[in-house]
Amino acid sequence: MKIKIAPSILSADKKKLQEEIEGIEEFADLIHVDIMDGKFVPPITFDSKEIGKIKSKLPKDVHLMVEYPLTEGFIDDYIAAGAASITIHEEAKDDIDKCIEYIKGKGINVGISINPSSSLDNILSYLDKVDMVLIMSVNPGYAGQKFISSVLDKVKRLRELKPDLDIEIDGGINKDTIKQVVDAGANVIVAGSAIFDQENRKGAIRELRDAFKS
Ligand code: DX5
Ligand code: ZN
Repeated sequence: MKIKIAPSILSADKKKLQEEIEGIEEFADLIHVDIMDGKFVPPITFDSKEIGKIKSKLPKDVHLMVEYPLTEGFIDDYIAAGAASITIHEEAKDDIDKCIEYIKGKGINVGISINPSSSLDNILSYLDKVDMVLIMSVNPGYAGQKFISSVLDKVKRLRELKPDLDIEIDGGINKDTIKQVVDAGANVIVAGSAIFDQENRKGAIRELRDAFKS
């Protein structure tokens, strides 16, 4: 499968978001947009209007770390902001099947995510309904945390169950951890600090790609 790199703009300079995106656009495959509500996780991140203003040829891959993606309007707001895909957490408090149906009904891709401590069993019933599964490899909320390697077993099991499904991994990915996640079967790779904390973004993305080829 083609390995896609999805820089997380959580680690970008928020004062010059458009410029930051133009700096990675030629080298990346998706723009990963982390949305937090201050309840599912403590921080609050972007406003959907800010995200809507971003102009890019890359798809916006929206990751909703929110308690009520549907009933509090997050899904509608990020569809309006041009999301190509919206991923919700299985730990969210809205009806998950309803959220999946709603997102699909709007004609964009839908993903389901699980936290490091949640079992893959919790999402088995959704696997035939989603376009992507996002396996969190840190506890959600912050960039720059350490990769939790015990989630690799979930990636391997999921890849065995679903040979063609997009499996995204998010948290603590850098040139030292990327090979393990690709070998386990992940094909959509989120990286925040490993890209945006470097001066040379092109070089940082090249380093990531080189690290799993070796
Ligand atoms: C964490 C977010 C991640 C985060 C990744 O809750 O979902 O997307 O930005 O940042 P790094 O790659 O620095 O762990
Ligand atoms: Zn994320």
